[in-house]
Amino acid sequence: MNRILVTGGAGFVGSFLCDALISRGASVVCLDNFHTGCHENIAHLLGHPRFRLVSGDVERPLDWLGQIDCIYHLACPASPRHYQADPVRTMRTCVLGAINALDLARRHGARILLASTSEIYGNPLCHPQREDYLGNVNCFGPRACYDEGKRAAETLFHDYHRMYGVDIRVARIFNTYGPRMAEDDGRVVSNFIVQALRGQPITIYGDGLQTRCFCFATDLAEGLVRLMMHPGELPQPVNLGNPAEFTMRELAQKIIRIVGRDAIIDFHDLPQDDPTRRRPDITLAQETLGWQPQVALEDGLTRTAAYFSAALAAQELHLPIAV
Ligand SMILES: NC(=O)c1ccc[n+]([C@@H]2O[C@H](COP(=O)([O-])OP(=O)(O)OC[C@H]3O[C@@H](n4cnc5c(N)ncnc54)[C@H](O)[C@@H]3O)[C@@H](O)[C@H]2O)c1
Repeated sequence: MNRILVTGGAGFVGSFLCDALISRGASVVCLDNFHTGCHENIAHLLGHPRFRLVSGDVERPLDWLGQIDCIYHLACPASPRHYQADPVRTMRTCVLGAINALDLARRHGARILLASTSEIYGNPLCHPQREDYLGNVNCFGPRACYDEGKRAAETLFHDYHRMYGVDIRVARIFNTYGPRMAEDDGRVVSNFIVQALRGQPITIYGDGLQTRCFCFATDLAEGLVRLMMHPGELPQPVNLGNPAEFTMRELAQKIIRIVGRDAIIDFHDLPQDDPTRRRPDITLAQETLGWQPQVALEDGLTRTAAYFSAALAAQELHLPIAV
């Protein structure tokens, strides 16, 4: 399990995963087309003898990468702003990307993990969400390209497992945040922090009483590695997320306190199909992987705010961002 391919490794989550794998002694090939990722996220790894960056697109067959023991398949835009910009491309990335990654795993006899998502559950009718909840998804709304794309990817993973015996892992990832999120991708934590740092009003959609849970990036990376390394078969999906639940108003208030600036809250209409409640039941991850998040929200937000504060200052001075 030492030669590892991470698709989407130059993205937000992928870069933390590459860090975790390198620090464990693995050799990592990071494949990315830089659609939503960036070189800054992995700049600190580029000279490392066990790290290799390959520019490539998972929508095309992957057949030139050398021997691989396992594949973390993350390549896919994750923020609504990015995945809704070209929904057909998003669906293609989800479906063709899964097929190409699975074909590669099959040829190499490699274990493969899918970065799936809590969006699988749609606007959930049961709470918290366990892995056996089948979801409440609108198959033609604006979020469908991502939600249904990931559902199709999960289907493909299970079909390759049943038909060809591919050793699969499926992580259902709930909201994750941390340094290296793209400043402009519209995700709630980066939005609120950047607005607060710039002294702008904080934008809340709806009444702000909808809830989310927030997992710090290093906690998620640890969960992904444990899921991949779990000995024996584990094809069933596993929720990875932080079960501590907060309303958007609570999140905004925490960020305003941490950033230390007065800010007003600006309420806007809720986007279509935006889920009102989300909270993972992580019993399976706790019992099977011995995993649970370690970083409390205040702590993670403080680290993330420090990153964005430095990033915004560097932008003003036209400096590279230190990660
Ligand atoms: N961040 C979260 O809260 C979250 C929640 C649930 C699921 N996920 C999943 O985790 C994965 C990573 O998410 P993220 O937050 O790091 O997103 P991200 O957009 O920062 O990273 C995605 C990476 O994939 C790359 N990519 C996109 N399309 C590609 C293609 N066709 N070929 C090669 N590379 C491609 C991008 O350039 C980027 O580096 C995604 O699959 C996402 O669906 C993330």
